[in-house]
Amino acid sequence: MKHLRSLFDLSIDEYHEILDLADSLKRKLGQGQRPDLLKNRSLALLFEKSSLRTRVSFEAGMIQLGGAAIYLTNDVGWRERETIADFVRVLSGYCDFVVCRAISQSTVDELASHNGLPVINGLTDQSHPCQAMADMMTMREFSNGELRGKQISFVGDGNNVARSLVKSAAICGMKFRLVGPAKYHIDQQFIESIREHFGQLDFEQGTDIKSLVRDADFLYTDVWTSMGQEAEAQDRAADFVPYQINAPLMKFVPTHCKVLHCLPARRGLEITDDVIDSPGSIVFQQAANRMHLQKSLLVWLGIKNGFVQSSQLD
Ligand code: CP
Ligand code: NVA
Repeated sequence: MKHLRSLFDLSIDEYHEILDLADSLKRKLGQGQRPDLLKNRSLALLFEKSSLRTRVSFEAGMIQLGGAAIYLTNDVGWRERETIADFVRVLSGYCDFVVCRAISQSTVDELASHNGLPVINGLTDQSHPCQAMADMMTMREFSNGELRGKQISFVGDGNNVARSLVKSAAICGMKFRLVGPAKYHIDQQFIESIREHFGQLDFEQGTDIKSLVRDADFLYTDVWTSMGQEAEAQDRAADFVPYQINAPLMKFVPTHCKVLHCLPARRGLEITDDVIDSPGSIVFQQAANRMHLQKSLLVWLGIKNGFVQSSQLD
């Protein structure tokens, strides 16, 4: 069974198939077409953490595709009332997919290991693949369709979002620069695993912000304190002070550089109002693309798992 536990579940070609289908579904929606490719299909949303974008974009996307989504929180009692194995067997009797936003990556991996229904990672401590794919879709829209050779400079924490973006950069042939305090850098073993898996990655990380943003085509940031790290918030706020995206920093980036943020933003911490609300900021188009990308991912997984016919895309 095909899942999206992390971007390692996709080949480079498969990743681009999903991006291309997302572009096509977005174009169709712009022309008023909402093909019911998932008519009568249902998606369970199993969330251990808060969400606006991920939850609503999957729910709205399923409606546009002719199906429905069912939002589940911890009160379904999984793990406490029954084993994950039993939970998956029951859920697969009702639903065609499940999106899981989990505290730990191991939860998503365990859900998928039972192969009851396709599992999609909706964010874990380690990764956020749907976000990174939608971000690549967005950056491609601002690169005349060609991402190869373009540079993302990520200012901040080497967190779940950054890690999925590094994989995506490898897949798309982009350069990735991460800048932040050394203790929040991405571990070298992970970088090597990406090189092994995708065969290429132009990656550097460091602490000198000016040199690492100088050639950025895209400047990206995320919160300094992710969900689940609240106990570290004070230390992190102090550690990351030199790594805010603000007007003085924007003087050091090329004039064509666009600014991204996965949102939610802590305005005044990792990014200032004047930058996030500036003409160079593409954060709201980025957020909107989550839905187009995830509609594509659902349809694509339906095809790969044999319950959607690719001829329906014509
Ligand atoms: N960017 C993102 O995943 O947002 P939510 O946490 O609101 O889903
Ligand atoms: N790194 C953030 C992303 C939120 C979409 C978090 O995990 O809280």
